[in-house]
Amino acid sequence: MPDPSKHAADPTRRSDNLTWQTLQPHETRWRSLNQRPAIAWFTGLSGAGKSSIANAVDRALTEAGRHAMVLDGDNLRHGLNRDLGFTASDRVENIRRAAETARLMAEAGLVVIVSLISPFRAERETARQIAGDIPFLEVFIDTSLAVCEARDPKGLYDRARTGAIPNFTGISAPYEAPLAPDLTLATDGLSVAASAEPLIAELMRLSAA
Ligand code: ADX
Repeated sequence: MPDPSKHAADPTRRSDNLTWQTLQPHETRWRSLNQRPAIAWFTGLSGAGKSSIANAVDRALTEAGRHAMVLDGDNLRHGLNRDLGFTASDRVENIRRAAETARLMAEAGLVVIVSLISPFRAERETARQIAGDIPFLEVFIDTSLAVCEARDPKGLYDRARTGAIPNFTGISAPYEAPLAPDLTLATDGLSVAASAEPLIAELMRLSAA
């Protein structure tokens, strides 16, 4: 069970003039939902299929009676992260905020699917640390740059190639593929449902009460 007192000793969390307030045990909340939480953290290039797979997983879990939520990079950038762009430091902050939000939602008992490019290994590791005791799966949506660029669902690669979009991941900004992801989902030549299937099975197992 996550131990809230751990926050005090966690260097990623402030302690100056702040007191950690003890809440009712998260387990109590989780019992009332009849499930356990988990975080599935997607990483992959733009156009890799992250959002499509996240939606498929979300729908399947909901149909199976689980409570789930998707945190999508594009959507977060319309609200919580609207002040952030695509410099390396803005992406670091984007990932930190998403990770903190995912943790809060998971503490509330949800299965959280986070769908962000999250291009840096170090930040994905930070996201795992922020998750603390909540089960955390780094899920690599493994679609090659060539395939993403051929798909180009939003027309962004075209514009990145001409220089109209600066710092574009895979073109003019780095993408660090995971070295040891918890799960790798291939997409090339597969349906969205087929790509999503192994993760649905794993999240059903982790979230069983
Ligand atoms: S992240 O790198 O900070 O994790 P995030 O997942 O939030 O990125 O946002 C990526 C989405 O923003 C892409 O799917 C794309 O629609 C859009 N986008 C706009 N500009 C860029 C850019 N320079 N690099 C990557 N994605 C971009």
